[in-house]
Amino acid sequence: MAAGEQPGTGSPPQPSTRLFLLVLAVILTDQVLAASAQGMSIGINYGQIADNLPSPTRVSGLLRSMQISKVKLYDADQNVLSAFLDTGVEFVVGIGNENVSAMVDPAAAQAWVQQHVRPYLPSARITCITVGNEVFKGNDTALKANLLPAMQSVYNAVVALGLQGQVNVTTAHSLDIMGSSYPPSAGAFRPDAVPYIQPLLNFLSMAGSPFLINCYPYFAYKADPGSVPLEYVLFQPNAGVTDPNTKLNYDNMLYAQIDSVYAAMQALGHTDVDVKISETGWPSRGDPDEAGATPEYAGIYIGNLLRRIEMKQGTPLRPSSPIDVYVFALFNENLKPGPASERNYGLFYPDGTPVYDVGLRGYLPPMDESKSARKSKGAASLAAEDSHRRKQGMLREHKIIQISER
Ligand SMILES: *[C@@H]1O[C@H](CO)[C@@H](O)[C@H](O)[C@H]1NC(C)=O
Ligand SMILES: *[C@@H]1O[C@H](CO)[C@@H](O)[C@H](O)[C@H]1NC(C)=O
Ligand SMILES: *[C@@H]1O[C@H](CO)[C@@H](O)[C@H](O)[C@H]1NC(C)=O
Repeated sequence: MAAGEQPGTGSPPQPSTRLFLLVLAVILTDQVLAASAQGMSIGINYGQIADNLPSPTRVSGLLRSMQISKVKLYDADQNVLSAFLDTGVEFVVGIGNENVSAMVDPAAAQAWVQQHVRPYLPSARITCITVGNEVFKGNDTALKANLLPAMQSVYNAVVALGLQGQVNVTTAHSLDIMGSSYPPSAGAFRPDAVPYIQPLLNFLSMAGSPFLINCYPYFAYKADPGSVPLEYVLFQPNAGVTDPNTKLNYDNMLYAQIDSVYAAMQALGHTDVDVKISETGWPSRGDPDEAGATPEYAGIYIGNLLRRIEMKQGTPLRPSSPIDVYVFALFNENLKPGPASERNYGLFYPDGTPVYDVGLRGYLPPMDESKSARKSKGAASLAAEDSHRRKQGMLREHKIIQISER
């Protein structure tokens, strides 16, 4: 309520009344936020290609203050998983592209699951392993050929540990695996990808695991801002487009993209695999030639997406299966290569300040006590620790940059 709309009274409320009203307002706001967050099951990608992010312990506090209960990682960072033990937060962990081929070896896959997944269960709820990210986007034919055998080895390791049903095994695709996606009912995979995707779908169907796709309506807008209607990509009111074959009406591009993947799978004989969105987002900043990369549009995209998730809406083709989405990303990541937009997909700056307001309030706890404990240590041991940490940090950054494919 704006100040000017307050019911006019002759005298201002007494200080105690004001305090009471303030406390009441805070309690009510908290309850409304908590209620809306609980009804909503949104996931967030926690990318770490940056040198200025808060510690995983603080991030754990931030995510819990936002009531976020699903997090996706690009690796299986033990510092992150350890910071979330017994929080109830669900995790998707990943095997980077540079490690996929090694996982073809059943012993290596078993060792990986033993070391990176088994020890954290059930305290950290790892529910899915992604083997590789956007493998069919690149030109690495050996990697493409190794992907499914690696997924099978990881799945066998999961089964050997009795974790099937508890931990899914899949991979995440970029939308450029699609040869055609319009109209949605005519969706088809790229002909050169089909020989890989067909057996991969057979595997996902057998293993009861979802097909993951990274979808960015922003890319379509950026490529052709003159002809892609902003309302259609931002989930704003618009007439939408009607699929001439199914007569289904689409009022946003994300749903059309999801349904085109369902159509492409059906063309390969599969109606038994779920499609989930492993990444979607909108950058709040970009280079001068990146149309639409503004905090205003990013806020509208994410805010409207959250509303759809809250409504448990499905796509026109699958109206009773609520969309399942991991937003990209938690933080702006300052070390990501590529155009400026790549470093500006975050909901938050590294200091915990929201980049735009979509009603997701979060609280980043202050520095952890390990920092203040350092004060009482000798200078020599501190220097040794710092050098060790820097080395670890550099190693990790190196690894993460290799993992990044997007
Ligand atoms: C993954 O690949 C990196 C870089 O090649 C290597 O250093 C690391 O040991 C591999 N990790 C696993 C679990 O195989
Ligand atoms: C893949 O190879 C083709 C032909 O050699 C080339 O035009 C294309 O740019 C390459 N794509 C990537 C992602 O390297
Ligand atoms: C595994 O994926 C299937 C298919 O999408 C889903 O129904 C199931 O809930 C997932 N299992 C876990 C543990 O998340």
